Amino acid sequence: MILVTGGAGFIGANFVLDWLRQSDEAVLNVDKLTYAGNLGTLRSLADDSKHVFTRVDICDGEALRALFAKHQPRAVVHFAAESHVDRSIHGPAEFVQTNVVGTFTLLEAARNYWAGLDQAGKDAFRFLHVSTDEVFGSLSAEDPQFSETTPYAPNSPYSATKAGSDHLVRAYHHTYGLPTLTTNCSNNYGPYQFPEKLIPLMIANALAGKPLPVYGDGQNVRDWLYVGDHCSAIREVLARGKPGETYNIGGWNEKKNLDVVHTLCDLLDAARPKADGSYRDQITYVKDRPGHDRRYAIDASKLERELGWKPAETFETGLAKTVRWYLDHAQWVEEVQSGEYRNWVELNYAGRA
Ligand code: NAD
Ligand code: DAU
Repeated sequence: MILVTGGAGFIGANFVLDWLRQSDEAVLNVDKLTYAGNLGTLRSLADDSKHVFTRVDICDGEALRALFAKHQPRAVVHFAAESHVDRSIHGPAEFVQTNVVGTFTLLEAARNYWAGLDQAGKDAFRFLHVSTDEVFGSLSAEDPQFSETTPYAPNSPYSATKAGSDHLVRAYHHTYGLPTLTTNCSNNYGPYQFPEKLIPLMIANALAGKPLPVYGDGQNVRDWLYVGDHCSAIREVLARGKPGETYNIGGWNEKKNLDVVHTLCDLLDAARPKADGSYRDQITYVKDRPGHDRRYAIDASKLERELGWKPAETFETGLAKTVRWYLDHAQWVEEVQSGEYRNWVELNYAGRA
């Protein structure tokens, strides 16, 4: 089986669902179930014996060692993290704990288990670390896209802790020979994304008749990738990536935030017209994110050249699918908009008016 961490979160759950649709290999899903973890997303797997869920914190080394010993995974795919930049600004400690200490603890448990395998088991084992393009910092409009050799320059507590975890993974390969793989991906969107991130937040607010809060001038650029394409890239890297290597994953879809919000409003205007006017009328400019990175852009040509991977979705097809999914799954959104979610909205947006 494979061991997946963070498999109840947005990308992890999409990965687990896709994996079990395409493979007979079982998944051990290790997740602490923070505010971002949601077993409701995995409801369709309730009767699937190939999905084994366990609520464990990746900072708990003893529990991890027991899981490795019991389940003998052939690979680890490590998604678990604190993932939201704005939350890292309000409370960085949790990010250091999970992203740095948690990754270190997981690496130690994996190394300990791997060291006890026979040579064939050692050679076949993989530790795939899922990371982000934010570790490379911020680009100007003229800069070339991030490549695998762009120097690290993280600017937020989130990206700094992800950078720290990437360095640990690199060190475990170089020092101990652990067969690691690291992927650095751009902004994901799609089904089951927690409505604290730009695209699901804008859809949820639009439908609820609330303001659509655009930070700063709305001209920051992100490179968007449909989550199913991220999952297919991870499967490729896991199957055929070279241990010790890093791979950039991106959608070749650079968009300004305001353009993303306009497109979402237009899709909603067509699918669920308002009695009066357009969803664009709800757009509100709010105080900028401190240290807001201006532009991210990924050069994913290494992945295409070496492993033949390309995204299947364009931004237009992926966004249309995503809007449809949120319209059809209002109950999922309602369920995650718990008391904790409302507290977050109050904390993050109250001071921005
Ligand atoms: P998410 O916040 O939706 O999910 C994170 C999951 O990790 C949750 O299920 C949570 O319960 C779990 N978790 C958190 N702390 C844990 C701990 N200490 N022990 C065990 N489980 C814990 O995140 P996401 O958007 O799905 O991102 C997944 C990974 O992909 C992260 O490592 C993130 O840095 C990376 N990434 C995300 C994006 C993106 O656009 N969302 C892009 C590139 C890379
Ligand atoms: O680039 C990959 C990263 O993408 C991942 O590593 C992170 O886990 C993921 O959260 C994401 O980070 P961003 O900060 O880019 O995503 P977010 O959805 O929070 O914001 C996208 C852009 O939209 C960013 O420029 C800030 C802006 N924004 C966001 C929110 C929540 C707004 O203008 N208004 C908002 O309310």
